[in-house]
Amino acid sequence: MRKKIVAGNWKMNKTFDEAKALMNELKTKLNNDTSEIVEVVVCPPFLCIPAAKDEFAGTSVRYGGQNIHFKDDGAFTGEISASMLKAVGCEYVILGHSERRQYFHETNHLINFKVIKALEKGLKPILCVGETLEQREQGIEKKIVDEQVTLCLKDINAAGMDNVVIAYEPVWAIGTGKTATPQQAEEMHIEIRKSLENLYNATIAGRTRILYGGSMNDKNAKELLGMSNIDGGLIGGAALKADSFITIIEAAK
Ligand code: PGA
Repeated sequence: MRKKIVAGNWKMNKTFDEAKALMNELKTKLNNDTSEIVEVVVCPPFLCIPAAKDEFAGTSVRYGGQNIHFKDDGAFTGEISASMLKAVGCEYVILGHSERRQYFHETNHLINFKVIKALEKGLKPILCVGETLEQREQGIEKKIVDEQVTLCLKDINAAGMDNVVIAYEPVWAIGTGKTATPQQAEEMHIEIRKSLENLYNATIAGRTRILYGGSMNDKNAKELLGMSNIDGGLIGGAALKADSFITIIEAAK
């Protein structure tokens, strides 16, 4: 049985004080009532991670970053290392998000280095994959996603896969209000499991958690999360309001 994850990707939103207020509201409204069935994860901007450490102390809410550099440390101006996130209590890190691929030119090869580094330092990667609208229109979406999964997981062994979460986020659905239908998402999640079975084995394919992301909100979450291969959501816009995020968490139960 795969435990569901509802993860909030706050992207570049919220100042420290705003983040603290939202975290506090979440904590109060959740009243520590998530733990058993759903894992709740919050990924705020780096600067707000210390606030997560304070606000979520003693609760079951986990938190993480939205990126890391692939090296341990050194002369990489403006970057953040896996160890730095780990040291402030992060459990997860989002890697290979389509916005990083699109605006910061991250390649599968680079993302693979980051996945390796995250695992080495004890962070759980939420590895994002997903096709663009153009690729879907060309009918190559499965090939693209299989390639992303394969290349980003290069050199990750079976034991490493225990700590990897995959998020299928069709680029055309992110921040657009245009969600994949539950059937479209389910179909791709099944494909991703096939890729994992080819790369590893059926056991690993069967226990890896695959989240859906892309305009998931309080209205459509229940139907998406009801699909048997959708193990949770990576939520952008709807994670910025406590009530809608909590409704999605409820839908995952
Ligand atoms: P969205 O973002 O929910 O705002 O579409 C999801 C994501 O990019 O992770």
